[in-house]
Amino acid sequence: TTQDLQKYRPQLHFAPKANWMNDPNGLVYFKGEYHLFFQYNPNDSVWGPMHWGHAVSKDMITWEELDIALYPDEHGTIFSGSAVVDWNNTTGFFPDEPGLVAIFTHHIHREGEQPSQSQSLAYSHDLGRTWKKYGGNPVLGHESKMDFRDPKVFWHKETARWIMALATGQTISFYSSSNLIDWKFESEFGEGIGSHDGVWECPDLFKLQVEDSEEEKWFLIVSIGDNPAFAEGSRTQYFVGSFNGSNFVAEHDDIKWLDFGRDNYAGVSFSDIPEEDGRRIYLGWMSNWRYANHVPTEGWRSQMTIPRELSLRKTSEGFKVVQKLVKELDAYFSKEKEVNDAVIEGTETFKIEAPYLDLVMNFENVDATKFGMTLEHTADQYTSISFDAEKNLLVLDRKTSGDIDFSEMFSNEQLVKIENTDNVQVRLLLDTSSVELLINDGEYALTSLIYPDKVCEAISLFTSNGSMKVSNSYISIPSK
Ligand code: FRU
Repeated sequence: TTQDLQKYRPQLHFAPKANWMNDPNGLVYFKGEYHLFFQYNPNDSVWGPMHWGHAVSKDMITWEELDIALYPDEHGTIFSGSAVVDWNNTTGFFPDEPGLVAIFTHHIHREGEQPSQSQSLAYSHDLGRTWKKYGGNPVLGHESKMDFRDPKVFWHKETARWIMALATGQTISFYSSSNLIDWKFESEFGEGIGSHDGVWECPDLFKLQVEDSEEEKWFLIVSIGDNPAFAEGSRTQYFVGSFNGSNFVAEHDDIKWLDFGRDNYAGVSFSDIPEEDGRRIYLGWMSNWRYANHVPTEGWRSQMTIPRELSLRKTSEGFKVVQKLVKELDAYFSKEKEVNDAVIEGTETFKIEAPYLDLVMNFENVDATKFGMTLEHTADQYTSISFDAEKNLLVLDRKTSGDIDFSEMFSNEQLVKIENTDNVQVRLLLDTSSVELLINDGEYALTSLIYPDKVCEAISLFTSNGSMKVSNSYISIPSK
């Protein structure tokens, strides 16, 4: 073919070898491997009849793509869902040894009828390499709601049973089960709280540790589908609260966004990460329904974020999620340039040619009105990351970053209101076609696709109307 499968292909982020991908599905750790299943159309590089693609990794960074795990069948195509290890053979599928169970949505659109969605099971005895669909599918039938999908299942220790969070229109419904087969409705959350800018999708519910304390809170992730009435396209909100095994109660009224960039959607967390490890790690689909089918890659479409470790921070604005790129990433980099006690007034440019890079900048004692960093991709393509000290805003501007013509909204600025700009820390991961920005040790995340002709020629730091100090800062490039 004449397709250039390599153009814009990420070096560090997972992307399918060919064809279309959307949501991460069935994230689970089992016997030394992380599994990433994903919404996949093996026949085209646009969305179509969904399958579950499959990849495995030992470190969540280098992935090996395997054969398709789940194909459509007489009950429909295979929409999003989760996977768990059935350690105690609650299902009866594993008389000999524990194995994996996938809980997913069957989606079917019969001629002359409304589409219908129900939840089904498949199980694997060979580390996820091959799957059997459960004979009694579906296990949770279509209810009156047409949007009835994306089951995320976890073992609720306190009540010793499985809990399923399910997207049901613009609410999340919770169900319980002792065996993953028979499900009982528990409660419904979401009426009158949170953002209802679009259909609710891809929930996840788990406990998170509050930083520097013994306290734990329940954390509910809810993705919100694209709605042409809003400028942002699809995005993800979260709620902090309590869950008693039956009901989730949020303890705030404000809307909380998981990511302030346009390109982090449908993120969910890994199941069964061992307690000794103790991390809660999630990853998202690094795209946006507004333009996902049109991004300028050929023969393949979409990539995932780098997995991120989550925690909660108590701030003056209430609880905030904190996101850190998993530490496994560090092994891929070595420091190329360190910056210490540098005073920047105007512009300072560091020539760095790299296929991908990772950096940390501490901007201190700022007395400029505007300051930040420019990623110089080529002589005339750049992405700008600037802080407005008067408005306490972070602005990522990708208007000049390369190909932007495929969507009208792609050139819009991406903004984050931050508490103060006197001292800010920026962690940034730049790959072939993405920027992942984490501010103040992960307190604000901004994830954004870009399509430059080249990744990086230089990084510039700049200020307007004043100066700043840059300390304990570095730029890292791929280690050999
Ligand atoms: C979210 C979503 C899910 C659905 C899947 C279909 O991006 O719309 O709700 O299960 O994608 O591919």
